[in-house]
Amino acid sequence: MRPVLSSWAFALCLTSCCGSVLPHSGTPSYNYFTSAEHPLAVEEDRVSSGPNIDISNEERASAVKDAFTFAFNNYWELCKGQDELLPVTNACGNSRNHWGASAIDALSTALIMGIRPIVAEILEYIPTIDFTTTATHVSLFETTIRYLAGMLSAYDLLQGPLSELSSNPAAVESLLAQSKSLADSLKFAFDTPTGIPANDIFFTTRSTGGATSNGLATTGSLQLEWQRLSDLTGDPEYSILAQKAETYLLNPQPAWAEPFPGLVGTRIDITNGLFLDATGGWNGGDDSFYEYLLKMYVYDSSRYGNYSDRWILAADSTMEHLVSHPSSRPQLTFLASFADTSFVNSSQHLTCFDGGSFLLGGQVFDKKEYIDFGLALVKGCRATYEQTATRIGPEQFSWNTSAIMPDQADFFENSGFYITNPSYALRPEVLESFYYAFRITGELRFLLNVCFSLVFDNPKPL
Ligand SMILES: *[C@@H]1O[C@H](CO)[C@@H](O)[C@H](O)[C@H]1NC(C)=O
Ligand SMILES: *[C@@H]1O[C@H](CO)[C@@H](O)[C@H](O)[C@H]1NC(C)=O
Ligand SMILES: *[C@@H]1O[C@H](CO)[C@@H](O)[C@H](O)[C@H]1NC(C)=O
Repeated sequence: MRPVLSSWAFALCLTSCCGSVLPHSGTPSYNYFTSAEHPLAVEEDRVSSGPNIDISNEERASAVKDAFTFAFNNYWELCKGQDELLPVTNACGNSRNHWGASAIDALSTALIMGIRPIVAEILEYIPTIDFTTTATHVSLFETTIRYLAGMLSAYDLLQGPLSELSSNPAAVESLLAQSKSLADSLKFAFDTPTGIPANDIFFTTRSTGGATSNGLATTGSLQLEWQRLSDLTGDPEYSILAQKAETYLLNPQPAWAEPFPGLVGTRIDITNGLFLDATGGWNGGDDSFYEYLLKMYVYDSSRYGNYSDRWILAADSTMEHLVSHPSSRPQLTFLASFADTSFVNSSQHLTCFDGGSFLLGGQVFDKKEYIDFGLALVKGCRATYEQTATRIGPEQFSWNTSAIMPDQADFFENSGFYITNPSYALRPEVLESFYYAFRITGELRFLLNVCFSLVFDNPKPL
């Protein structure tokens, strides 16, 4: 468990806004989530049902901030400098190279919540990290999306809209210097015959452990961070490395690895750039490749037209081929995955970012079809929350009628899915989707249920 990671979820439960993707140039090219059809103004009277509806936004916000502060303060007191607090035993864990992962992860959350003392503590700590050494194996992907993204997003917030939250300019500058130090330590991962990086690397021996392949998501979810680092430092090296790897994903070979236009396989041979399978979809392992295609275009539409072309192909194929309605509750919409051209009727908590991706795509390309599909996916994921005993969605679920466990037959009839893995790993993906749905429709019900399940006692279904 990574207690402070859930702070990101807490931040989204606040009704205040802060874009998670900063546009490259000064003015955003799009008015995200502010279409005339769905005005942003949120009026209390639009909340017609739901748990604890009488609570004001201020009370909600302060309960969420209290939960975050409680989690952070205990982590800091017991495990400062280590990666996580293990809340059952109060021991400390170091699953992310012992560089203080929870602190880096919590920084942008503390910024968005405006909690100065926590911001100050973390900013003071970051310059003391030595990103050049670690005894344990390093995941290029996990390190990029947690450490690099955490520091770069905090740097952008502190140089931009939240600059008043720090009076320590040297510590703010250190965010960028430390990002560069970390990327410099990581970049030998790209030193392969194709330029597609190995994901699992070892600093002590500067080796990639003999890896011969990498995954779609682990290869295709580096570009935003490495590009941003190049844009901030003025050194193109980081961008060139990440973009080179991406070319193999944008132009997938062999042709059979793309069974539906835009939807590709999962593993790529890093020695020749060829895909090794045609198994995929929007589940873990593939997921953020599709997310980044769109967000790169949001970041800079002039440089990343190719990325959006690929996202649109994938989105259209998904609506045509992967959309799936469970037989016991056909009003629900889930996404199947594929193995070549056959389908698998199961999905994951991680996959619940899909609704958000379609909602963002619908806004970016001004396409109502994507918005409607995105809302249907969000409702499907929300249903997985509403139906469980805890009101928290399962890690994995299925609606494959050939494989129902007998003890879940009734549950499947009522719910439209059955649970194949009941754990909850503090996953924030669903909250990004629910948050976009709230921003687009102005309907708090998209957020409240899940937030109350996660943050408040005694949640009730809508
Ligand atoms: C992007 O598209 C242009 C024009 O089709 C092409 O020349 C270029 O190679 C593409 N870039 C990548 C990374 O695929
Ligand atoms: C999978 O879902 C589709 C609906 O999307 C349905 O037609 C098919 O029968 C399902 N197959 C199984 C085995 O559940
Ligand atoms: C359903 O489950 C069976 C048994 O695991 C599997 O063989 C089949 O491919 C699955 N079908 C779908 C559509 O998920």
